[in-house]
Amino acid sequence: MAEAARAPLPSDKAQAYAALRAEIGAVIAGEPSRTARYATASSLLANAFPDRFFWTGFYLVDEAKGDELVVGPYQGTLGCLRIPFGKGVCGAAAAQRETIIVPDVHAFPGHIACDSRSNSEIVTPVFDKAGALVGVLDVDSTQFDAFDAVDKAGLEAICGDLLTLD
Ligand code: SME
Repeated sequence: MAEAARAPLPSDKAQAYAALRAEIGAVIAGEPSRTARYATASSLLANAFPDRFFWTGFYLVDEAKGDELVVGPYQGTLGCLRIPFGKGVCGAAAAQRETIIVPDVHAFPGHIACDSRSNSEIVTPVFDKAGALVGVLDVDSTQFDAFDAVDKAGLEAICGDLLTLD
């Protein structure tokens, strides 16, 4: 599957997310490695929206600490390694267990600037089959106000599949 020729994504964003969701699901089907699943999603998402997605990747709950995220598979420039729960957009989304859209990161209290070119972001939590938080998907853009409700719905659907598809 991973080597198969890939059809171009639909130009409509909601349809593009639906196609991406199906593609990611097909690639990770039967794959037990969580790392492989996160890496697949970050690659396909980053390459699907190269103009908007400047940094695309996962911050995962450090099981030894419980209240800290550590960077996982990503596409983009060097990311910070660790983010405490409650700090920055990623830490806030992890603490609240909800997607957060930030149209201007410079106006977000406590925003962590891993790369000063980021101007807006969306962060979506990832849960395992039991409903436990395992991390967040963080997408940063150099554009201001780059993410909307269609991105939220699309990314939540994909994150919802990541650890629940067999
Ligand atoms: N902007 C994030 C930090 C992670 S990086 O930008 C890759 C935040 O405030 O949560």
